[in-house]
Amino acid sequence: MPYYSDELIEEVRSANDIVNVISDYVRLQKKGSTHFGLCPFHNEKTPSFSVSQNKQMYYCFGCGAGGNVITFLMQYENYTFQEALQVLAKRVGIELPEQEMSGKARKEADKRARVLEVNKTAAKYFYAQLRMEQGKKGMQYFERRGLSLEILKKFGLGYANKFSDDLYKYLRKQGYEDELLKDSGLVTIDEQRGGYDKFWNRVMFPIMDVNNRVIGFGGRVMGEGEPKYLNSPETIIFDKSRNLYGLNFARSTRQHFILLCEGYMDVIALQQAGFDNAVASLGTAFTAGHANLLKRYTKEVYCTFDSDGAGIRAALRAIPILKEAGITAKVVRMAPYKDPDEFMKAEGADAYRKRIEEAQNSFLFEIEVLEQEYDLGDPEGKTAFYSAVAKKILEFEEELERDNYIEAVARKYQIGFANLRKLVVHQGTRAGLTRESRSFKSGIREKKKKEDGMRQSQKLMLTWLIEEPELFSKISSFLGPEDFTEDLYRQAAEIVFSQYQEGELNPAGIISMFTEEDKQREIAALFNARLEEIVTPAEKEKALWETILRLKENSINYRSKHLDPTDMEGLQKLIADKKNMEDMRKRFL
Ligand code: UTP
Ligand code: MN
Repeated sequence: MPYYSDELIEEVRSANDIVNVISDYVRLQKKGSTHFGLCPFHNEKTPSFSVSQNKQMYYCFGCGAGGNVITFLMQYENYTFQEALQVLAKRVGIELPEQEMSGKARKEADKRARVLEVNKTAAKYFYAQLRMEQGKKGMQYFERRGLSLEILKKFGLGYANKFSDDLYKYLRKQGYEDELLKDSGLVTIDEQRGGYDKFWNRVMFPIMDVNNRVIGFGGRVMGEGEPKYLNSPETIIFDKSRNLYGLNFARSTRQHFILLCEGYMDVIALQQAGFDNAVASLGTAFTAGHANLLKRYTKEVYCTFDSDGAGIRAALRAIPILKEAGITAKVVRMAPYKDPDEFMKAEGADAYRKRIEEAQNSFLFEIEVLEQEYDLGDPEGKTAFYSAVAKKILEFEEELERDNYIEAVARKYQIGFANLRKLVVHQGTRAGLTRESRSFKSGIREKKKKEDGMRQSQKLMLTWLIEEPELFSKISSFLGPEDFTEDLYRQAAEIVFSQYQEGELNPAGIISMFTEEDKQREIAALFNARLEEIVTPAEKEKALWETILRLKENSINYRSKHLDPTDMEGLQKLIADKKNMEDMRKRFL
């Protein structure tokens, strides 16, 4: 919920020219009315990041990042909506009244800020302790593990001494109250005995978000002991599925890929060896949330997990999650060493770089793991293995892609391409996915495609409407916001239509009516559909009416499916619309 009025949000947004603001972060070049640059949210060599002065929006045709000037700061700086607005207000000297925040929202924001402050204070405390006499044990531990002073500093590593209420006492002395300390997850409060530290007698790893704010900690025992790592619980500022260890550094790497490892120590060891693109999850499994986070920064992730069974299982789990997010996954093998940290100590950076170059295609990795389950020395086992491989190859949608994998597998196991291909086709037929070598696509995929096509048409229409305002009078008697069947699209269409009626179209303003970054990004995409290369006015006219008809048809279908049988008015409108559509078809196509 916004704490500020819509008018005020709009005032701040429009006072900050988007080209001006983004130019502070990205080198932009003007082409026509649009500025282009290298996208800060993913790695690329040719600019597909566009900033439109007219629309006051940005949009990346490569990764789909987009929004208005507020979204940009939310995305780039990881600010909340309110934080972004505050920064922008300050930038142009607009004073934001405090009282506009609702009581509850105000309290939330305050709490976030104060928990961040407690974490920062604790991080400084641990950091200082490590460098004092009582931190000697911690310092010796880090030395034993080969960490340089420079790297200790870079990661802000620290030490929690052996007293179990030392931090608690310190934080209380700094004036923080029990309630807040409890919320920070650093302390537990016992009714009778008072406050206890969560972390003691451990070396401390502050966990930072992409803006270098300390949001939690991991604490390791010095030597053997259980649990090896303790981690801060999730708090108001610590969401383990939306943050990755090391991403504050990796986000600005010059590399085109990110190294995904299992442990904090791996990230640190890699960083010390000059690999600034390493990240790890925070003591939890890798999730879709992590994949989507990574997608802002890269298109390729190299999994460099432990070589043991757990590491292999972790890779097998992460690969489909990465693929689902549209990220290419590769696997860097660490054997015979346990993990990147050990590898680095044994073989060094050059050897590791070589392993990166030899990184395995994720599919071939999966096949190799699969192979372990079969006895290839036995004809029966061998047949079963090839059948399983053939089935897996069917997961690829494109025939060309399937053929490429058939070729790679055939080469690896020295079987004939034609034989394996036959087997794949056979498996496909058995699964009912294909008629001989024709399309392998499943019904589910077809349906999804149709839906995507419909979304695409709805997007296209909205983009058209905001890029060419004169269209509105032409189409408004045929098409209304109710014809946009996707919830968010309809909400956006309603605002666009009513802005037209009031004679003041303001697409960038629409974006900030939504406070969540995901929504803003989606809305920005709505207004930035790729308009096909339409050359002649006649072609354009045709495309326009085709799109309108498609939308209309979809909306009629949708409404007849959801119509309440007693709703006579709705039924009449539906019938009228159907007739209207036929007329339109005759008239314009
Ligand atoms: P590892 O045991 O591989 O830790 O666990 P590591 O980072 O390589 O550390 P060293 O080299 O043994 O000191 C991988 C990750 O799993 C989480 C931590 O995030 C750790 O970095 N973990 C592990 C826990 O949260 N708790 C544990 O008890 C163990
Ligand atoms: Mn490890």
